Amino acid sequence: MTESKLSTQPYKGTRDFYPDEMQQRRWMFDHLRQVIGSYGYQEYDGPMLEPFELYAAKTGDEIVNEQLYSFVDRGDRKVAMRPEMTPTLARMVAAKGQHLQKPLRWFSIPNLWRYERPQRGRLREHWQLNVDLLGVEGVEAEVEIIQVAIDMMRGFGASPVDFEIQINHRQLMNDVFEQVLKLDASQTKAVARAIDKRAKIAPEAFQTLLSEAGCSPEQIAELENFLTAPLLEIGKICGESQGYKDLIRFFDTVNALGLGPVCRFNTSIMRGLDYYTGIVFELFDKHPDNRRALFGGGRYDNLVGMFGQTQMPGVGFGMGDVTLMDFLKVHGLLPEVKAHVDILVGLFDAEMIVQNQQLARHLRSAGFKVESVLKHQKLGKQFELADKRGIPLVVLQGPDEALLEQVSVKDLRTGAQENVHMENLIDWLQAQLA
Ligand code: HAM
Repeated sequence: MTESKLSTQPYKGTRDFYPDEMQQRRWMFDHLRQVIGSYGYQEYDGPMLEPFELYAAKTGDEIVNEQLYSFVDRGDRKVAMRPEMTPTLARMVAAKGQHLQKPLRWFSIPNLWRYERPQRGRLREHWQLNVDLLGVEGVEAEVEIIQVAIDMMRGFGASPVDFEIQINHRQLMNDVFEQVLKLDASQTKAVARAIDKRAKIAPEAFQTLLSEAGCSPEQIAELENFLTAPLLEIGKICGESQGYKDLIRFFDTVNALGLGPVCRFNTSIMRGLDYYTGIVFELFDKHPDNRRALFGGGRYDNLVGMFGQTQMPGVGFGMGDVTLMDFLKVHGLLPEVKAHVDILVGLFDAEMIVQNQQLARHLRSAGFKVESVLKHQKLGKQFELADKRGIPLVVLQGPDEALLEQVSVKDLRTGAQENVHMENLIDWLQAQLA
């Protein structure tokens, strides 16, 4: 019997990160860390496994019923691999609620698991930057969170015409469903799902979904009227509700900050997760080849309270690495990111491996990033290796140089080669690399 060979493919919907791809991922998240750090956010993390019930309560039907990776562990506990970070964050905050200095400005970059059909912008494992601000009741929190999102995009070189943040309010939608349209609970779910699909389907298909949800022609007309109304008209349709007031304050503030042009009120933003209670938003790429949402988030004032210890309002967003990478690629904003090594310490001959290692150690202790040749090859090959790796300088010490306490340095950027005394070597190299 012939043994079947093991596949080298990663599990469906996951990625291997070879060093070049890892370098890109690090570059992207280092950049994001810088922007978030400038707002004073602190990094946290939690476990990848959580009790299944943590998601069953508020994460939303689609993720829980169709996408959760879950299993029963050896101790008969039902466990899930985290599909999102917000429930873990809420659990951690609830556990220490009273002792935490508010407001909390926290961020994390977990890998998340969702059993999705892999496609452009959607995988089964992705990394998601989560930025959350807890302990602030007013829309100032949403305004800060939106500023973080905009600064992150700008920091990558994105211009305001490249993306748009679409904003809605969960409570406003609930008011429309309950008080204006007078829908029952199951109709509300079906209508919310239809609105979520509205941007991707034809107007007739949308109407059919509403009819199937049991809406009368009058209700459909009323809903269409609401969905197409500008924000200032909304107050006339559903009264000056809290949702309406929040949105007006939010837009007044972002306009005053000059951020209005990238923010747009859009009644079709529903957000699939059940825990949102106030303003919700998604950031979209405006490039026709990459229409997906890059970020999604909103206000969740009851999630921390679900653990029965402390109540704490929260606002935040999640931004996936897959969609962000697609954004950077289609807009030509992804630079070639190379591993950064300053110096290759060459090996003059196999006998000199100890000197080669001593020299490399000496240079590393002075703060340089140093790779060393461990197996002797022709010097030409060693220069070629450094060139391919993008290492600018090759330092070599043969027996003649050793006697004179010198090294020979070749600069691959110019082709120049020079002998340098050991005493001056560090300063000399620093000047070359400056
Ligand atoms: P979400 O909308 O489910 O929100 O995900 C946020 C972002 O993560 C999406 O806009 C997308 O960029 C990315 N994403 C989600 N699923 C996938 C996937 N299967 N493959 C690739 N990228 C994906 C949340 O998860 C909320 N917990 C965010 C949040 C934080 N709300 C408040 N704080």
